[in-house]
Amino acid sequence: MKFFIDTANLDQIREANELGVLDGVTTNPSLMAKEGIKGVENCNRHYVEICSIVKGDVSAEVIATDYESMIKEGTALATLHPNIVVKVPCIADGIKAIKYFSEKGIRTNCTLIFSPGQALLAAKAGATYVSPFVGRLDDIASDGIELVEKIVDMFNYYGFETQVLAASIRSTQHIIQCIEAGADVATCPLSAIKGLLNHPLTDSGLQKFLADHKKVNS
Ligand code: E4P
Repeated sequence: MKFFIDTANLDQIREANELGVLDGVTTNPSLMAKEGIKGVENCNRHYVEICSIVKGDVSAEVIATDYESMIKEGTALATLHPNIVVKVPCIADGIKAIKYFSEKGIRTNCTLIFSPGQALLAAKAGATYVSPFVGRLDDIASDGIELVEKIVDMFNYYGFETQVLAASIRSTQHIIQCIEAGADVATCPLSAIKGLLNHPLTDSGLQKFLADHKKVNS
């Protein structure tokens, strides 16, 4: 399973990249706003900067919600860097735009997926990725991981090449569940990725190894 980091924060992207296991980055308008990045020029510069740090796909989301404007905005985003993936919301004009981008060879990530039917439409339109939002479904007492499982099964059954990019990951446990569900990618906060390292037996085992080494080497 590939790991993307879900942030527009350059320090966190660098830190995750330095671990050597980062495969890409996802951003969204809220994450860009959180970093105080405003205006098209600044956003574009930021996306290019992210692409210079990470060797992998970087999702950049369109703000437009009508077909013509999405095409214009997405085409401009795709020209910023070969690793840019145009992120498009799962609405009717978004599905049409994904079809257009797919025919032009521009890669897409269909975002705000909350049902298998939405994922099917995006895949049929030729999306490179679909992003089911795990945490936001859990927030409303639904089952985000179950949605990931259903989409993975559907894509396998029908042979879609669209990759399942589990998004809205909130915890290390979510990442483990995404692996079990067969997601192609999980986009995660840095803390959740680092959480995978934690195990008390690793800590106590290392302490014992070092103590035993010290006993005979001091
Ligand atoms: C990434 O592609 C999504 O926009 C993001 O994971 C949403 O996460 P949130 O539900 O924590 O805002």
